[in-house]
Formats: sequence, structure tokens, C-alpha cells
Amino acid sequence: MDKHKRIRELILKEFSNQKVQKAYERLTRKGLWKSEKKLFKKYFKKGSVVLDIGCGSGRTSFGLAKMGFKVTGIDITPAMIKTAKRLSKEFNIKIDFLIGDAVQLCFKNESFNCALFSFNGWDQIPGKENRLKALKEAYRVIRPGGFFIFTSHVRHLRGYFWLWVKQWIKFYILKRLGFNVKEIEFGDRLFKEASEEMYENEQFIHIPKLSKIKEQIREAGFELVFYDKRNTIAPEDKKLKSGNCTMFVCKKPGKS
Ligand SMILES: C[S@@+](CC[C@H](N)C(=O)[O-])C[C@H]1O[C@@H](n2cnc3c(N)ncnc32)[C@H](O)[C@@H]1O
Repeated sequence: MDKHKRIRELILKEFSNQKVQKAYERLTRKGLWKSEKKLFKKYFKKGSVVLDIGCGSGRTSFGLAKMGFKVTGIDITPAMIKTAKRLSKEFNIKIDFLIGDAVQLCFKNESFNCALFSFNGWDQIPGKENRLKALKEAYRVIRPGGFFIFTSHVRHLRGYFWLWVKQWIKFYILKRLGFNVKEIEFGDRLFKEASEEMYENEQFIHIPKLSKIKEQIREAGFELVFYDKRNTIAPEDKKLKSGNCTMFVCKKPGKS
């Protein structure tokens, strides 16, 4: 039995939900974060062919296209791709939007100059081996010298001490005593936020340790050239409620 099947189904359900679709459409209309603009300008060469992994309804894809990049967007959730295609017509911006899984990309080696996996989509891949595969896939499809930018919530930087104490008790004590604990790895969170206006279903996120992210970046073959908290890179609008994630810039060694 695939131990991650239930979580994958949960993710598809979460992102297919009407409310979530509407919310992502609103975010897509707002466009790029300031921090994203800054990093794309700095690391993505003008005219690059860019793969937007976990593109959702196209927030970053449209933003990049407006900056002059040629973009392909893929997402595992069909409803997201449907919305992205509709918005592509409305904005009159041509982007190839495809349904696809970050863990097994449907592109030939070195098809893109650079790639991104924005807004913590990488954290929503269940299983450390799958998250590593996604990094290896990003590495495979970009050309030497190209950059891959992604974001993650980082366990120790988030400051949720008591949450992790609770999770530790749940995972290492209650699970061993036979209680039904749905989290598969320590760092996994399955939760329902009643106050959240956009999510109705149970949500999944894995919040990794910084050392694990760095180790996986290296194992995938990348050089980590920069990382920092989003709001340190460029302070965002206070209304942006999505949390202060960390942004990672990785380079595939070689000359572009
Ligand atoms: C938090 S949303 C971000 C969407 C978009 N990047 C943005 O910034 O608005 C995460 C996205 O990652 C997608 N996703 C999750 N797991 C994925 C996978 N294995 N392959 C491709 N997309 C995935 C989800 O369907 C969702 O659209």
C-alpha cells in the first residue's frame, strides 16, 4: 500500500475546493510577491525559458510572463490548471499550462533555463524521498548554470515551540502506544483551521528542518547560493496572510 496515497488525495481535494480556487484566483490577480520579483530579476537571465512547478492558478507564471520570460506551468491539481487556462485567455498571456507531478516531470533533460516551486508547494509533497525526487527532477530539467527557486516553512525559524512539543508527544509517544496518529513523518502537520476563510478541508504540510532542506538540496546536485526569510528579502504587504516562509535559491553547477 502506498503510504502517501491518502495525503495526496487530501491535497487534490484541498486545492480543488471552490473557495480555495476563488482565493487563488484573487491571489493570481494580485501577482508576484515583492521578494519574488527581486529574486527573479537577480537570478533568472532575461529571456529565460522557465518552468513553474506547482503553478496553481498561475500567480507566478503570469508574473514571470509579464517580466518577459517564456513560461510553462504545471500543477498536480486539475482544477488549478483549468483556472490558469481560463485566466490565460482573459489576460491574453500565452502560457503552456499542464497537469503534472513535480515528483515525475514530463519534460526532457535540460528543457528549461530555470525553474521555481513557489509558495510552499514543495512542503505539500508527502514523504522525504518524494521531496528529494522533486528537487532532483527540477535539477534534471534545467540547464547547467540555471537557477531553481523554491520556498519552504522552516521548522526552527517559525518559532512554534509548543506546537512542536505537542507534535513530538503525538508522534513519538502516542503513536508508539497505538493511538491513531495520521502524520507519517515528524514535521508533518495534518490540521483543520476553523478560522481560515479559504480552506474547508483538512490540510497537509510538512515543515522540515533547515539542515534537512540543505542536505536535500545538496543531494539533488544543486549548490545553495542564497536563502532568507521572505519578508527580509523584501517586506510584503501586511495584508498578505501567507506567513513568512523562507526562500531558497539553488544553482545547477556549470556555465549557462
Ligand atoms: C500553496 S499552492 C501555490 C500555488 C502557486 N504556486 C501560487 O504561488 O499561487 C501549492 C500548489 O502546489 C501544487 N502541488 C502540490 N503538490 C504538487 C506536486 N506533487 N506536483 C505539482 N504540483 C503540486 C498544488 O496543487 C497547489 O496548486
